[in-house]
Amino acid sequence: MICRPVTIALALALSNIAAHASPAPTPDFPARATAFADRPAIAVGVSWYPEQWPESRWETDLALMQKTGFNTIRMGEFAWSRMEPEEGKFDFAWLDRAIAAAQRHGFMVVLGTPTAAPPAWLTQKYPDVLRVDENGTRAGHGARRHFSFASQRYRDFARRIATEMAKRYGRNPAVVGWQIDNEVGPPSFDDESVAAWHAFLKARYGTIDELNRRWTTQYWSQFYNSFDQVPLHATGQQNPGLLLDFKHFTTATWTDYVQNQVRAMRPLIDPRAFITTNTMFWNAGFDHFVMHRDLDIAAWDNYIPDGRPDWVANGANHDLVRGYKQRNFWLMETQPGRVDWVPVNRALDPGQVRELAWQSVAHGADAVLYWQWRPSPNGQETYHGSVLGQDGEPNPIQAEIAHVAGDLVKATPLLADTQPVAKVGMLFSYDSRWAIDLQRHNKDFDPIKAFTDFYRPLRVQSQGVHILPAEADLARYPLVVAPNLNVLTEAQAKRLEAYVRSGGHLVLGPRSGMKDDANALWPQRQPGPLAALLGAQVAQFYALDQGVGVTGSVTGKASIWAEALEPLARDVRTLATYSDPGGWLDGKPAIVTRNVGKGSITYVGAWLDPETMARLAASLLADAKVAPILAGTDPDLEIAERAGAGKRILIAINHGNVAHPLALPAGAKPAGGDWADGAVPAHGIALFQLAPEAR
Ligand code: GAL
Repeated sequence: MICRPVTIALALALSNIAAHASPAPTPDFPARATAFADRPAIAVGVSWYPEQWPESRWETDLALMQKTGFNTIRMGEFAWSRMEPEEGKFDFAWLDRAIAAAQRHGFMVVLGTPTAAPPAWLTQKYPDVLRVDENGTRAGHGARRHFSFASQRYRDFARRIATEMAKRYGRNPAVVGWQIDNEVGPPSFDDESVAAWHAFLKARYGTIDELNRRWTTQYWSQFYNSFDQVPLHATGQQNPGLLLDFKHFTTATWTDYVQNQVRAMRPLIDPRAFITTNTMFWNAGFDHFVMHRDLDIAAWDNYIPDGRPDWVANGANHDLVRGYKQRNFWLMETQPGRVDWVPVNRALDPGQVRELAWQSVAHGADAVLYWQWRPSPNGQETYHGSVLGQDGEPNPIQAEIAHVAGDLVKATPLLADTQPVAKVGMLFSYDSRWAIDLQRHNKDFDPIKAFTDFYRPLRVQSQGVHILPAEADLARYPLVVAPNLNVLTEAQAKRLEAYVRSGGHLVLGPRSGMKDDANALWPQRQPGPLAALLGAQVAQFYALDQGVGVTGSVTGKASIWAEALEPLARDVRTLATYSDPGGWLDGKPAIVTRNVGKGSITYVGAWLDPETMARLAASLLADAKVAPILAGTDPDLEIAERAGAGKRILIAINHGNVAHPLALPAGAKPAGGDWADGAVPAHGIALFQLAPEAR
């Protein structure tokens, strides 16, 4: 195999991605599980690894999967050493037979490219492809993800196996979708990654002078004479500009790593088949909005490792995944009861597997796939939850999963071509998350927790939130909340200003508008490029070790973080002030608002306790005239609406341990689930079809 010289192709691709760091949403693929009109609009299935089992067992497995009610199988994503047992020698006969067998049973097939687990012949002969960690230790063989994301040689091998698969199965009618690699994430610090880093910085800044200016390298004598002096670091006492650009670099490199395969496969596969990659819970490794720009759909792996779901927090992650493409997504993996990778792998309670499947659908999943069908006899994951046991007989959870499958197949005509409805948009920014995480100032300022604390009451009270990038079209959301938009570009600020002027209600949380996209302070105090619009600024910020009082239109407490605000324009209204006797914050504005054009901008300077946040959310929703989908429901009941193709479906999920009353919504008719005697049982669900004109 010919290995092209270092990173020329990569450098070109990186410069392209560096220049387009802000993703534009691409809501272009159809809103259903697949673009095959003759295939089910909702997929339900499981990961199956036929390479681990004798072929004589396959028929039994497939028949049992069918009996469970599945219509989809995902396979292939770790089978490289079986597909290419020696360099350049391909053996797909077994996979031909496995796909054909799946097809005989009527399954849709999703194929994974196997590049998360390179074979031993590759890593032995070409050890330069192996990943190197930040301390300089090169990975060995035997686990997975042990390759360097910047290795051109690895990319060549990866492209070749992906191309072989696409040539062979790209037009196979059973194959409805493709997953690139598996949960990409860990970066590498090998020489080729360092060279790519330098190419990336050059593409981003053009000249070393510009880099020096944006990073303020006169500080601590960090000045660089040339790009090749800039060290590659992810952590440690480094310039925050460098550390944020490291994240931009991993974003560009992983995106290009995935596209390296996509580019080769596209011309070979049926245009109705999607190409995606599966991502992880709040993964901070790269900007997921950028990664998904050139993928067809988003897909993610939802696990509740401690077996104790916090349904609102879990829902936030579903909404984030929906936001990557602003369209429905696939739940590519979820647990049949338990995982095997945390200190205590508690199983979900009976009913919760089903409840969580429905939650994903309520938030826009058009597919629910379990990981995995049966535990391999050996290997690192023999303790993980699975549908079958090691004896090939169903585990106790199988009945519940069959229930999920039965539900989803039955509800498919109803759910087809519908999408989750929301009137509230929340802006999530990877740059902001990273910038805050790099300099928390208060160790307890966890940006995900801060985001979730804002999300919680907004989701519970409005019953529909879409999480969006700051570049999204916001016109359809009367209320947009940006909990911590720490990094704010001029372009984003302009869009937000236009949103407000044309009637939107924009709410900024603490630490907003402080940094530019090189992680440097804006010369204007926070919210920087939006301070003029707000007519107010942050006079000073304070890390709190104990709470301070907040009084005014909402009264309660703030902790962790508080900013003393300073109105500059006369029409700014102070909604709440601090009570901090003897302290800097005492009497200073904590929340200010201003009407601008047809809309308003509000700045909340403090991290409010949950009750205060709930009261604030209520008033924000009222001001923006956002009503809940169904008022007066118990807090354990999650309510969601999916609408589209002339249908409106209300989904109610009881996340609690006792039954909760739910009156038949006005104009609605029951459409499935467990609703009986005006209540939803513990861990039960209820579906209603709403009349289009009912709301
Ligand atoms: C995922 C991974 C799967 C499997 C699963 C176990 O992160 O994609 O291959 O390892 O975890 O929970």
